[in-house]
Amino acid sequence: PSERDALRNRIKSLLKERDAVLVAHYYTDPEIQALAEETGGCVSDSLEMARFGRDHPASQLVVAGVKFMGETAKILSPEKRVMMPTLEATCSLDIGCPADEFAAFCDQHPDRTVVVYANTSAAVKARADWVVTSSIALDVVDYLDSQGEKILWAPDKHLGDYVARETGADVLLWDGACIVHEEFKAQGILDLKKVYPEAAVLVHPESPASVVALADVVGSTTQIINAARDLPNQQVIVATDQGIFYKLQQLVPHKELIIAPTAGNGATCRSCANCPWMAMNGLQNLVTVLEQGGNEIEVDPELGAKAMKPLTRMLDFAA
Ligand code: 13P
Ligand code: SF4
Repeated sequence: PSERDALRNRIKSLLKERDAVLVAHYYTDPEIQALAEETGGCVSDSLEMARFGRDHPASQLVVAGVKFMGETAKILSPEKRVMMPTLEATCSLDIGCPADEFAAFCDQHPDRTVVVYANTSAAVKARADWVVTSSIALDVVDYLDSQGEKILWAPDKHLGDYVARETGADVLLWDGACIVHEEFKAQGILDLKKVYPEAAVLVHPESPASVVALADVVGSTTQIINAARDLPNQQVIVATDQGIFYKLQQLVPHKELIIAPTAGNGATCRSCANCPWMAMNGLQNLVTVLEQGGNEIEVDPELGAKAMKPLTRMLDFAA
């Protein structure tokens, strides 16, 4: 067997030996996603990763994604050991929302219900009334609006703005953005549509409003995958991280999959739209963490207990 096959086999047997399960995001390397599938783990969006990790009987979770995903897993299962291939994999939304500044913002607006995106630290979640992922943000805010509540939203301004426009809710926005999705360009998609007029445009809501405006479907990674499968269009333009192409190619091998441009001239780009933090997860650091047991996620128990409430509210709402 090749060196990579040997690595893969080693990971498979270590997962068994350690009573560990691999929980991976759609943006990770195809090799990681394939291993999660082959070993009974999960590959999914951040909502399903949270649910899967909480409900799986394994005593150890290996979360291949970015840090907030590991923290969410630990908050929901404090009794489990949660490890990550690297603890360096963060997220621009998490970085852009420091807990102390966020708490001060909340303090200034005590009349608002605090809704935070899952892409935040445990400390920020601990301050929230609700946590949401992109797959249920609209439904949760719509519900809160129907209850007459005014919202304080953090950190992604594009997703928050999208949710406010769609629901008509009164939403006060934090100023954060995803460095990957913010780069998609409306003009590039318009140019592509001239070449592929029949293509469906599927957009993650972390993208700017001008890009969202061109979408046939706006949704989380899972919702984008489902739309690519269910829509009749034979060509699909996708505005999200290119890691998603692994699953799309599996599900709709006969369709033409086109990454949305991050430059304005319609030029496609295979190396762009690739989250640098998701890309830090590899076979090598995965095997190392299983062998040596490091990179454990620790969440202060008191903070974790506070953050568990809005996270559980999210999972109950989504159920
Ligand atoms: P999803 O919840 O859609 O998987 O999104 C997570 C994320 O980080 C998107 O950039
Ligand atoms: Fe964060 Fe954007 Fe990377 Fe998702 S793609 S983890 S939102 S930086």
